[in-house]
Amino acid sequence: MIHLDSVSKSYVVGGQSVDAVKKVSLHIGPGEIYGIVGHSGAGKSTLVRLINRLESASAGKVMVDGVDVRSLDGDGLRALRQRVGMIFQHFNLLSSRTVAQNIAIPLRVAGWKEQARIDARVAELLALVGLEDHRDKYPAQLSGGQKQRVGIARALANRPQVLLCDEATSALDPQTTKSILALLKRINAELGITMVVITHEMDVVRMLCDRVAVMDGGNVVEEGDVTKVFLHPEHHTTQLFVREAEHLEDLEEVLASARIKGRVARLTFVGQEAYAPYLASSVREYGLDFTILAGNVGKIKDTPCGQLIVALLGETASQEAGLEHLRKQGVTVEFLQ
Ligand SMILES: Nc1ncnc2c1ncn2[C@@H]1O[C@H](COP(=O)(O)OP(=O)(O)O)[C@@H](O)[C@H]1O
Ligand SMILES: [Mg+2]
Repeated sequence: MIHLDSVSKSYVVGGQSVDAVKKVSLHIGPGEIYGIVGHSGAGKSTLVRLINRLESASAGKVMVDGVDVRSLDGDGLRALRQRVGMIFQHFNLLSSRTVAQNIAIPLRVAGWKEQARIDARVAELLALVGLEDHRDKYPAQLSGGQKQRVGIARALANRPQVLLCDEATSALDPQTTKSILALLKRINAELGITMVVITHEMDVVRMLCDRVAVMDGGNVVEEGDVTKVFLHPEHHTTQLFVREAEHLEDLEEVLASARIKGRVARLTFVGQEAYAPYLASSVREYGLDFTILAGNVGKIKDTPCGQLIVALLGETASQEAGLEHLRKQGVTVEFLQ
């Protein structure tokens, strides 16, 4: 659905060139929820604005559903904007218009004239985002979560194939964030819309995304399935993001304060095996002995997974037998010390 090939974007500010996006290549399939995570200034917003041509790439190729976005003008650009909806951190609603009027804006831009037809489509969209009772309110009369629901309804008005979400939950509290992410997940499942989700919060990626790219200084430094990136982050920037999201203490500090001298292993469980009693059987049947230093069990999107960091105790032979039993069950064993 979206292909970026070696795409760059530079801005000239006060005679100085700023390379906001550097030779980025990404391929996003239809119906996928694709995350782009990075710190402030990494180039995320610039990258996503190249997809709907709010910004024009300096070099490289941007294709959306087979259309070369850089070559568009006038009518082509208007058609692209109808096929690619967008929601924003600060919602960007018109304060002088009601909820229903805000949602109708893209329909009017697309040439809809008949009021009854507009009202019917707006009613459908209000039902989709759960705002039937707020149709005639003004944005100032809504909570943050309700404002973002209006933003989502407006973005979906013309039945786009792609929805771009730029820090869509960054202005919301954790509970409201969860409800908006659940809404986006449901819309993706029901309508099959491809979503590009920009965020500086790894938790948003964990709950919503299928794949993720990590950006740093205009570059994509790591990319892949969310489970892989979460469980086995390779780039330093990714490791920092994951550690932050997992609320894991600095491992070196844990090892030092626990005064661990022996071997330390990270055990990773993915899929249904995360719920199976393999750890217990490795203790019971093979005499594996250990202390848990840190850990996490939960879900990444819909995949159960768990990760434990353990200090191995006892004899090397029983350690090896117990770990071999775990490996045979599909548990990944990595030595950290
Ligand atoms: N319109 C612009 N003019 C000049 N520089 C810009 C513009 N937009 C973004 N930049 C610069 O590009 C870099 C990336 O910005 P941005 O894409 O907004 O990052 P992010 O969304 O990851 O925080 C920053 O250094 C920023 O200052
Ligand atoms: Mg941004």
